[in-house]
Amino acid sequence: PNVLSVTAEIFPLIKTGGLADVAGALPLALAKEGIRVTSLTPGYPAVMAALEGAERIHRFSSLMGGRASLVRGRVGSLQLLVIDAPHLFDRPGNPYLQPSGREWADNGVRFAALAKVAAEIGLGLLPDYQPDLIQAHDWHAGLTPAYMHYARGNARRGPVPPVVLSIHNLAFQGRFPARLLAKIGLPQEAFAIDGVEYYGDIGYLKAGIQFADQVTTVSPSYAAEITTEEGGMGLGGLLKSRARHLVGILNGIDTEVWNPASDPDIKAQYTAETVERRAINKLAIQSHFGLRADAQAPLFGILSRLTDQKGVDLLLDALPVLFAEGAQLVVCGQGEARYEAAFREAAKAYPGAMGRFIGYREDLAHLIQAGADAILAPSRFEPCGLTQLCAMRYGAIPVVSRTGGLSDTIIDANSAAIARSAATGVQFAPPTRDMLEDAIRRTCALYRDPDGWRRVQLNAMASDSSWRSSAAEYAAMFLRLLAGRSAALP
Ligand code: ADP
Ligand code: GLC
Repeated sequence: PNVLSVTAEIFPLIKTGGLADVAGALPLALAKEGIRVTSLTPGYPAVMAALEGAERIHRFSSLMGGRASLVRGRVGSLQLLVIDAPHLFDRPGNPYLQPSGREWADNGVRFAALAKVAAEIGLGLLPDYQPDLIQAHDWHAGLTPAYMHYARGNARRGPVPPVVLSIHNLAFQGRFPARLLAKIGLPQEAFAIDGVEYYGDIGYLKAGIQFADQVTTVSPSYAAEITTEEGGMGLGGLLKSRARHLVGILNGIDTEVWNPASDPDIKAQYTAETVERRAINKLAIQSHFGLRADAQAPLFGILSRLTDQKGVDLLLDALPVLFAEGAQLVVCGQGEARYEAAFREAAKAYPGAMGRFIGYREDLAHLIQAGADAILAPSRFEPCGLTQLCAMRYGAIPVVSRTGGLSDTIIDANSAAIARSAATGVQFAPPTRDMLEDAIRRTCALYRDPDGWRRVQLNAMASDSSWRSSAAEYAAMFLRLLAGRSAALP
């Protein structure tokens, strides 16, 4: 079967977070399951520039008030359909934010365009490409099934493909003023509680949840959390009503991009058999960040968006404890200005023990995974999380809060789990300063027991974080939906 994956980000072309990693890796994993994925993305400059074998296959007379066309091409083994609409997407840098850091004022229109084009393709726009199923990622693609619902009378041929909405983060909901309705080409009747209306606005993610044939999210625990009042962020009731059509499937990582045995960005490649070579990478980090070259000091790393979700304020509060333990810290991240400033200040306050890079650096992220002793993820909520998966593969011990995908992927190093050789990290709950401090102390104590540490490290490295089993789950679900669809036909 053919699947159209609709996404605002895709690695290695454009990335602000894990969504891009998933959108870039899942197609390759699904190919092994016999599913052919084409990804529909906005034509940002970075995407237009990277496209190989580009071919213009359709011209829209007008798309949200400007000229636009669809370009087909590929990047590596990714098959792409790109919306070339300069008035919407020919803007450099971050896909959502202006250089000032503020959202583009027309984001509602820009991502409605993404969903509208997806829906038109689903309804038969292209003579030589028809998806059997559409996977719409996050709020950016959330309107896709709504457009299909209100235009289904206009299907040009065959059965209307089922739509899977995949939620990567419920905190980003895509909420825009009701006056956009006509501009984005939805009928007045759509503005209803069982339509796209959301607390008086238009809710893009809400619309997706409402109209999708199936809703997925990126871990089983998060799937349960988001149907509750507390975790539902305003959508809990609707998600609960759709619980029969909601499933959590864990993310994987691309084990070729993240492979310590061949990683070109690290100083010393290694495997589980040569894990002592991580010491060379640790020294490289200490030298890069101007830390004391000290093989014995536990080196913590954090690679993260610097936002409330990620609990980085808890880490800022816990710094005195971390340094009192004789540990070191390197930070690679960007995000809210107040957190960026706080980490800059902290690095000045602990010279030789703390280093930071405020920004986005792929190669540094790899080096930190390969040389830090532990990777911190003190998230308040975490749909799945990828850094803890990379950490395990690289033999850095994840130190994580027990929430969402972090609780599904890490087994806490309590004495029973260590004895059973099951432990893969350190987990704490609830996400508070006290509990994080306690987890940091426990991690440092474990570090001072080299045998115990090595056992947890090797367990982590042996656990399978690839896409293999999750891709099979997606494939089975897609096939089930397709079977249901054809059974429902006259
Ligand atoms: P989220 O999508 O919520 O940001 P994930 O853990 O799912 O969190 O994915 C984050 C991805 O972005 C990981 O691949 C991580 O390595 C990467 N990343 C985060 N911050 C940076 C940074 N400053 N530089 C390089 N990579 C980063
Ligand atoms: C989101 C979530 C993160 C998840 C990623 C990919 O950005 O915050 O937990 O891993 O999407 O699904």
